[in-house]
Parts: sequence; C-alpha cells; structure tokens
Amino acid sequence: MSAGNGVREKLKKLEREALAELQAARGEAQVRSVSTKYIGRKGLLTHWLKEVGKLPAKERPILGQMANQLKATLEREAERAIEEERKRQKEEWLRLEQIDYSLPGRRPLRGSKHLITQVTEEIVSIFEGLGFEVSEGPEVELDYYNFEALNFPPDHPARDMQDTFYFSPNVVLRTHTSPVQVRTMERRNPPLRVIAPGRVYRHDSDPTHSPMFHQVEGFIVDQQITFADLKGTLTYFVHQFFGPEVQMRFRPSFFPFTEPSAEVDIQCVICRGEGCPVCKKSGWLEILGSGMIDPEVFRFVGYDPELYTGFAFGLGVERIAMLRVGLSDIRIFFENNLQFLKQF
Ligand code: FA5
Repeated sequence: MSAGNGVREKLKKLEREALAELQAARGEAQVRSVSTKYIGRKGLLTHWLKEVGKLPAKERPILGQMANQLKATLEREAERAIEEERKRQKEEWLRLEQIDYSLPGRRPLRGSKHLITQVTEEIVSIFEGLGFEVSEGPEVELDYYNFEALNFPPDHPARDMQDTFYFSPNVVLRTHTSPVQVRTMERRNPPLRVIAPGRVYRHDSDPTHSPMFHQVEGFIVDQQITFADLKGTLTYFVHQFFGPEVQMRFRPSFFPFTEPSAEVDIQCVICRGEGCPVCKKSGWLEILGSGMIDPEVFRFVGYDPELYTGFAFGLGVERIAMLRVGLSDIRIFFENNLQFLKQF
C-alpha cells in the first residue's frame, strides 16, 4: 500500500468520525469544540493536511484536494449545526414564553390624583373663590408654633388633646395646620385671608383616626371681623362642597387659640340624619373646628387685639372625603390599593 493510500484511508476515517461527532454535539459550545478538534490550528485534519504536503508529487494534488474538501465540509457542517442549535433554542424559548403575537399591547398604567389630593384641591379652590390665598408651613415644627404661641402653655392639660411624635422636647411633627396662622401673622400685617393645606400627625389610630392625615386651615384677620363672618363663610363652603340641601350646625367647643370656639357638624350624608353606625346614631358628623382668634395669639405675634379681630378654622380632609364617597374606615386611603384608588 502506497503512502497515499494510507493517507486516503485516514482522511475517510476522519470524515466519518468528525461528521458523527458533529451530529451528536449538543449546544453551540460542543459543536465548536468538535470543530476545533478537527480543523483547529492543532486539529487532526490540520495535521493530515500537513502530511499530504510530504507525499510524493504525483499523489499530492488529488489527496490535497480531498483534504481541503473535507475541511470545507466540516466547516459548513459546523456552521449548520450552530445555526440549527440557535433555531432550536429560539423555538424552545418561544414555547416556554408562550408569546401570543396576536394579543393587543399592554398600555402603560395612567396615574391619577389621590382622592385626598382631589378633595384638598376642591376645598382650596372654593376658598380661593372667596379671595383666600394659599400658604404653607413645615411638617416638622417647633413646639413654639404648634403649641405655645397657640396658647397651649407647657404642661397644660389642653396639650393632651393632640399628642404627637417628638424629635426633641422642642421639635415635633405638627398636630394641626394652625401653626401656619402664627408663622403667617409673624411675617405679615393684616388684612389677611389665608388658606393652608397640609399633612399633620397625631398619636391616633382607629377606623376614623389616622396617625397621619390632612387638614386645611383657613383664617381671616382684619378690623371688625365678627362671628357672623365665620358663620357665613363656613356655611357658604359647606353648601358649595356638599350641596345646598345639606343641613349643618355650629356646636360650642373649646380650642386654646380661639374664643369663642365652635365645631361644625353636617347632617350625616350616609343616613341623611336618620342615625346610622357611621354617625354613631346621632345623625350628625363633625367636619371641622373653628372660632374667633384668641387675643392671646395676637399678643404672641405683636398684633393689637383692640384693633384687629379674626376667625380661623381647621378642616379634616379625610373626614370630608369619607363623607363625600361614603366610607367608614379611614385606613383605606393609605393602603395603596389600586382597585380602591382607581375609582376616583
Ligand atoms: C384642630 O386640629 C384645630 N387646629 C382646628 C381649628 C383650627 C380650630 C382653627 C379652631 C381654629 P381638631 O383636633 O378637632 O382641631 O381637628 C380638626 C379636624 O381634623 C377634626 O374635625 C377631624 O376632622 C380631623 N382629625 C382630627 N384628628 C384626626 C385623625 N387622627 N385622623 C383623621 N382626621 C382627624
């Protein structure tokens, strides 16, 4: 047997083995490693290509051609195997993902204003229509503005009405928006007609009391402001917001920073005054505190109480929103339940 015949046999054997291995290879990496094994720089076929070069001149061309064809075949087969592997992977992925290309696309969810924001804006705009201007104050407040300048002396029992969260003995989370009265009056002189919406905090938690809630404060200071102005303004507001048919009443109350003071109740919007669990069978629901600004507060800010009078009120926004949409548990506002929130 000539040297050429030996090489021819070798090449045929190599072809059979290489094609069988390519067929059996699973995954791109395996195919590449088979390919390297045969036609890589130190591959088996590469070795035999060199051997062909050493053959006698008359055998070289035919065997050289055979070896080169085999190399081309192996390259083509390896490429085909890789292509097939990629196609198989893509099909597998599509099967697992179960993409249904006929489904309509998903629209991005559109956000909307929280009911509390909507109600706050509505309240503010009613008062803006009466010439009130918007002012705001800090939620982390000095004890001085939250209590002392509003005539809650240190250690006075009136402070028990509004227990809060303390950062230090002098710095608290504000319990109401009334400190904005003092801050505004310190900066400016009458006449004032201000509305101050914002977040407030108390050590409270039950179905109708939240540790964080919202208030809208309003106040007017000028010469000759009377309780009739307070009554007229709040009656106008209630009729604008709840409708002209809703009954309301002023009930005497106490706040250290107003004298006299009154709370405003509206007829229960759930039972229309018949008495139900929401109004605790009274037929009435409290929505705000109000009163004539105490001369003591004017002294704290340097206004002359002989010259100026004023009234103030503080509305609970959640309470009002609950009445508007007929809710009995305040906590649902802050649970971030989209099914609930999306209704408004
Ligand atoms: C005050 O906060 C006074 N600053 C209101 C005021 C302002 C009086 C100006 C006079 C002059 P009161 O504690 O009653 O008052 O709270 C006012 C309203 O806030 C209540 O009518 C109620 O609607 C709401 N509110 C009070 N505590 C909570 C709470 N924990 N969760 C939700 N709403 C509350």
